[in-house]
Amino acid sequence: MVTRIGHIALNVADLDAAVAFQQEVIGMVETHRAAGASYLTCNERHHELILVHAPAARGYDHIGLEVDGPQALERALRALPASGGSLLGGIYDGEPGIDRALKVQSPGGHVYKLFCGMQSVSAPEAGDRPTHFEHVSCKVRNIPAEERFLRDGLGFRFSDRMGFLAAWWHCDEDHHGIALTLAPRAELSHYAYAWADLNALGRVADRLKATRDRKCIWGPSRHGPGNNHFLYFHDEDGAMIECCAELVQMRADGYQPRTWPMWPRTINQWGGPPPPRFLLTGYPIASSATRPGRPGWAMDPGRSAQASA
Ligand SMILES: [Fe+2]
Repeated sequence: MVTRIGHIALNVADLDAAVAFQQEVIGMVETHRAAGASYLTCNERHHELILVHAPAARGYDHIGLEVDGPQALERALRALPASGGSLLGGIYDGEPGIDRALKVQSPGGHVYKLFCGMQSVSAPEAGDRPTHFEHVSCKVRNIPAEERFLRDGLGFRFSDRMGFLAAWWHCDEDHHGIALTLAPRAELSHYAYAWADLNALGRVADRLKATRDRKCIWGPSRHGPGNNHFLYFHDEDGAMIECCAELVQMRADGYQPRTWPMWPRTINQWGGPPPPRFLLTGYPIASSATRPGRPGWAMDPGRSAQASA
């Protein structure tokens, strides 16, 4: 079903400030801005991130997941409710950069937008930027129910588990596209960009210090599940970003899924347990997220805006 992690859409308090942070610290490039939303990329895809001006609705609006065509969206209409998902309207079109989409809320409350037909854009000029939007980590109260939805509704495959506390699932070669962690309420733990290597993470930390005089939350170090280097810090609105390098490639690296022990070394191969700021950070699911169908900010004036259901 899902063939790739697409993007995340974040509601932000100050759109210009949030865009500037992504440009100056991460290296993202704006491809489209209209109706209070900015679409940004780091490669030849139309967008890997959407920022929405919504100061009264703090949180994330949706997590974008790519499927391989319109027929997959039609199949999703049947598969998602049967696996515990709640459809948020029908299939719609008219959104910048994609062909059509379908929104669904998971059993744990997270909001996903399945989409197909991502447009291509000219490659950004050479610069220090991620290769792609890589994964999200979602806090949930019931990991098994969320795993059933990922597996049976969205077609994800199991990668790793840390006892009853966390699980990692993949939809392509990357070790994980969605991570789940046990928590008292449903929130976004973090969103993650993929970088070429550990040196790139150091350059991001340098830019965070030089341009914002801000500290990292955790890292750099190396996780056990996924075997990736990591670096965590807050974005302009307090959502947590992970910069990630050398994530395991499932088939190419011959990776064998396993259950890891519930001790700090599992998630920090180089050092101690995660700091409280990491554990306590959660970006809410925005009040706007569960509105059915195409969001008002997502109107593409150059295309037809007919909802098919
Ligand atoms: Fe992560």
